[in-house]
Amino acid sequence: MNIIGKTISSALAGAQGPIEAGTGLFTKITEELTGGAAISPEELCTRINRAVTEAQTRLAAAADADEVEAVRIALMGRNGLFQALSKVIADVPKEAKREVGKAFNCGRAQAQKWLDEAGLRIERAADASESIDVTLPGRMRTVGHKHPINIIVDDCVEIFRRMGFVVASGPEIETVRNNFDQLNTPADHPSRDRGDTFYFADGRILRTQTSPVQIRTMESHEPPVRIVAPGRVFRRDTPDATHGMNFHQIEGLYIDRNVSMADLKSVLQSFAWEMYGKEVKIRLRPHFFPFTEPSVEYDFSCMMCKGKGCPVCKQSGYIEIAGAGMVDPNVLRNVGYDPAIWSGFAFGMGIERLAMLRYRIGDIRYLYENDVRFLEQF
Ligand code: PHE
Repeated sequence: MNIIGKTISSALAGAQGPIEAGTGLFTKITEELTGGAAISPEELCTRINRAVTEAQTRLAAAADADEVEAVRIALMGRNGLFQALSKVIADVPKEAKREVGKAFNCGRAQAQKWLDEAGLRIERAADASESIDVTLPGRMRTVGHKHPINIIVDDCVEIFRRMGFVVASGPEIETVRNNFDQLNTPADHPSRDRGDTFYFADGRILRTQTSPVQIRTMESHEPPVRIVAPGRVFRRDTPDATHGMNFHQIEGLYIDRNVSMADLKSVLQSFAWEMYGKEVKIRLRPHFFPFTEPSVEYDFSCMMCKGKGCPVCKQSGYIEIAGAGMVDPNVLRNVGYDPAIWSGFAFGMGIERLAMLRYRIGDIRYLYENDVRFLEQF
């Protein structure tokens, strides 16, 4: 304010040198202007123009809003230049009023324009400095990713799709018919017990396996059939390191003419290689399932110790993966397939088990605790 005031006032003072800055500055200007007859109307016009030109220079150089505001006050304020001038002009002789008035009005309009421009320029500069700095590092958003269970499901599906299997699915709430009866499971089979299976009041159950998808698929499709069915299953187990009340399986079913155990073995071997690498061997052991005959359990050679024996495989060199077998002719008959023409195999494996082996997870419960520190690792 002082500097600007001084500049403008010195311009107005003309040859008389700078006028002191301070509170009474513009009163002083006015006094000087009106004090004597020394200032001719021409001189007044010249001084208005010089002051306005000086203001333009000041405003062009103004670096912030405060500087612009100081000039505005010095020019347009109640004690500012134009207020003072308007008083001086009142006393200008009539014949010169027109010319001086014009200089006053033009000067004030011009000064206002420069004030507006300077204000806008500074506002824009402030906006620009607030906007994007492209050199700053990006703000990372934490994006979720697949759960390890889903990673394994997707990988399994991908492997089996390459072998010609398509994905089928069924509901988690199933009928006893699809989950047990059609799968050749006798009424007194222990797995049907209320202590092992979750029953609804209406007699339906939470499926205990993905095998009912075999029934649903065969009852709705003519052979040949080649499906995999990943999904959640439920058993009334007490949770521990290797058991949960719900877990995931992926079911496989292949029905065609002349399908043999050799086909089953080669599909499982190919899967093992794809999933865990070329050095993994598979082993089939005789077992029993109501819906396959013969039935097997199959093991993969331990990927931790490469079959030598370690705590993970309990020194056996092999890890149990799941159950499988040739589809029982009774099941084929149940769904209306002629066992004299059609044969096939089925298998079912536990997804959690595959995940625990691949990621070396020691306790199945980690997979369901939704602890981000755990899940972040996959
Ligand atoms: N459904 C069986 C189980 O849950 C696994 C299985 C599937 C066995 C298909 C044979 C054929 O244990």
